[in-house]
Amino acid sequence: MQPDPGADEPRPSGRPGPSTTVPWFRPIEPTDIDVCIDIFDAAQQELAGRLSQPWSPADRPIMGRLLAHLIEGNRACAWIAEAGDGAPASRGPLAFAVAIRRGSLWFLSFLFVRPEAQAAGLGRRLLLRCLAEGQKAIDRPIPTDAEVFLATCVDALQPVSTGLYAGYGIVPRTPLLTMVGRPVAGSLPQLPSSVTATPFEEVGGAEAGHDVLVRAIERLDRQLVGYERPTDHRFWRRDGRIGVLYRGPKAEGLAYGYVARSGRLGPICVRDTALAPAVLGDLFGRVEPAGAYQVVVPGAAERALVSLLHAGLRFEGSPALYCASRSATDFERYLPAGFALL
Ligand SMILES: CC(C)(COP(=O)(O)OP(=O)(O)OC[C@H]1O[C@@H](n2cnc3c(N)ncnc32)[C@H](O)[C@@H]1OP(=O)(O)O)[C@@H](O)C(=O)NCCC(=O)NCCS
Repeated sequence: MQPDPGADEPRPSGRPGPSTTVPWFRPIEPTDIDVCIDIFDAAQQELAGRLSQPWSPADRPIMGRLLAHLIEGNRACAWIAEAGDGAPASRGPLAFAVAIRRGSLWFLSFLFVRPEAQAAGLGRRLLLRCLAEGQKAIDRPIPTDAEVFLATCVDALQPVSTGLYAGYGIVPRTPLLTMVGRPVAGSLPQLPSSVTATPFEEVGGAEAGHDVLVRAIERLDRQLVGYERPTDHRFWRRDGRIGVLYRGPKAEGLAYGYVARSGRLGPICVRDTALAPAVLGDLFGRVEPAGAYQVVVPGAAERALVSLLHAGLRFEGSPALYCASRSATDFERYLPAGFALL
């Protein structure tokens, strides 16, 4: 695909588009990942400074692996915008966006614009480009297919992104709270004796076991998350997260969850919310991180949230908001992996 100088689309506010340079759009390549992280850090640092919030740079290896996974086979929905006329000497990266499709979900994972290029229409143009999934008519209307729903996560402190997406029907629906700390010993219940917890490797060791694992996870994802995502499960496992399948007396899948050696939990999916505190307790017991555990908890996941608070975990930072054109994920029963990949 050739790089494509962007034409200025009309803006709802009637404000003029970028006046100095016409940005140059091209698909993100794996070699652009470092530059994307630079843009992300610059935008986040400036936002935090403006709001007098603490800021720390992205963990480059973790974010690099995540971006590599998201852009793999996804060039039509992963764009970088550069200043200049496309000639290498005049280029300067200004912004990037990555969206992914999973079944009926279109999800915006990243959209970041360098501070000096913000508020000039570039974020909207990258959003439209991702929405149009790389088709040449970037001003084509957003997908009307009733089966497709659009979603993303925003920082609750950021009215610009929240307002930008809401204009396309991607409206705030569920707060997502980051909780950190170490649970007080014995504060979370044990798994009931009727529930068996098995690490994925042990379920999936033999071929038949692998089928059992995949079927159990796919059913939980379909019913509770709203779509299947085998490539993401492969990514989490390859990335070293420990996956655990929880089964009932008839070997039926009741829940699954992941914990990373860093102490990060998620995603976690439970058919019955009453099982959530024990699943969390089991996952905490599987790794001993150097620092605190970290888990993203939707406000709707009341059982998980209250039990974690009582166990001693605390909220950190401002909440994120899950924004969507319609509700398809059962956040009472689902704790996401993060904000860029639910
Ligand atoms: C958020 C961000 C990606 C938007 O990109 P941008 O190029 O600055 O935004 P644009 O100029 O294309 O569009 C901004 C739109 O936000 C909307 N907006 C801005 N302030 C708003 C407010 N207070 N309420 C509602 N909507 C608002 C408007 O619709 C505006 O478009 P308009 O001027 O045409 O009406 C960019 O500013 C950024 O990277 N910010 C810092 C990092 C960040 O917050 N990223 C998102 C994390 S959730």
